[in-house]
Amino acid sequence: FSLVNYLITGGAGFIGSNLAAEVVKRGGKVSLVDDLSMGKEENIIHLNKKRVTFYKKSITDHDFMTNLLIKEHFDYIILLGAVASVANSVRMPYETHEVNQEANINILETIRKFGLNVKKLLFASSAAVYGNNPQQPKKEGSAIEPGTPYAIDKFASERYALTYGELYQIPTVATRFFNVYGPRQNPDSPYSGVLSIIFDCLENNKQFKLFGDGSQTRDFTYVKDVVNAVLLLLYDSKAVNSVYNVATGKSVSLKEVIATFEKILNKQLEIEYLPERIGDVKHSSANISRLMAMGFRPDYDIVAGLNLYINAGV
Ligand code: UD1
Repeated sequence: FSLVNYLITGGAGFIGSNLAAEVVKRGGKVSLVDDLSMGKEENIIHLNKKRVTFYKKSITDHDFMTNLLIKEHFDYIILLGAVASVANSVRMPYETHEVNQEANINILETIRKFGLNVKKLLFASSAAVYGNNPQQPKKEGSAIEPGTPYAIDKFASERYALTYGELYQIPTVATRFFNVYGPRQNPDSPYSGVLSIIFDCLENNKQFKLFGDGSQTRDFTYVKDVVNAVLLLLYDSKAVNSVYNVATGKSVSLKEVIATFEKILNKQLEIEYLPERIGDVKHSSANISRLMAMGFRPDYDIVAGLNLYINAGV
């Protein structure tokens, strides 16, 4: 009897640590690779040590990754490791490419070359691949207009994963996450997810800089829904060689979100209004019928998600 074995790159990050906790809860064991450039060891410190192995390594260390993949028998591989900041990708396009694309192809190549028997590999892509395409809601078949190094590499890695799947019979699937929020999202950068910034401002009585008038809309997706979608796609053998939007299917304005936060915390957010941020899209909404056809139903609307987030503690 051996436990189901998972590998999560970016495993100490926001989504990775939430996914790791769920996998352990479901009885699996998991190896987490993270260089802690964005992730934090405290995100995973509470997990059962007998089931979790943490490697403080960069996924760009190809020798390390190749050896790890050969040595361990991973049933499921989830590729979340990335330079997650779009702004950083603009500042450092090549360094981003090494992490967001080359590191992923090295993993795929190792699986191919050594004929590793993986049940499923999931690559986490982003709604960013749709770029400035004004069509709403975004379907997986909508035009791709990646406008930043981040989006280009996400799209390329997504295609590599799916193409390796088709050419070399490696079961792969890709997801396009919309605006994910929840516990352990790091609010430290001005380019962090806006909900983590708002929460931080409310908790620590800081002024929130609102770019625009608050009427911009997003499909804010609670991290537990993302974890559920990821696991559903991993386990369902029909979910192969395809890409799935992961979102709630319902967008809300920033103004509405702020009002919900204020109501739950019974506190007023101090707001400084600034001009719209360059490159921002005004509206973002997702069509999730492909994911729903696999049986997914979002469990958390914005009110339920924010309540859990605010009361989560860690
Ligand atoms: C998100 C992704 C990005 C992706 C894009 C494409 C995150 C963190 N970013 O960007 O990777 O390229 O979707 O779909 O998930 N805002 C403020 N004040 C702040 C911060 C943000 O008003 O301090 C506003 C922004 O101007 C924007 C909205 O909040 O209008 C959401 O911003 P953000 O959380 O950065 O996400 P996206 O811009 O949607």
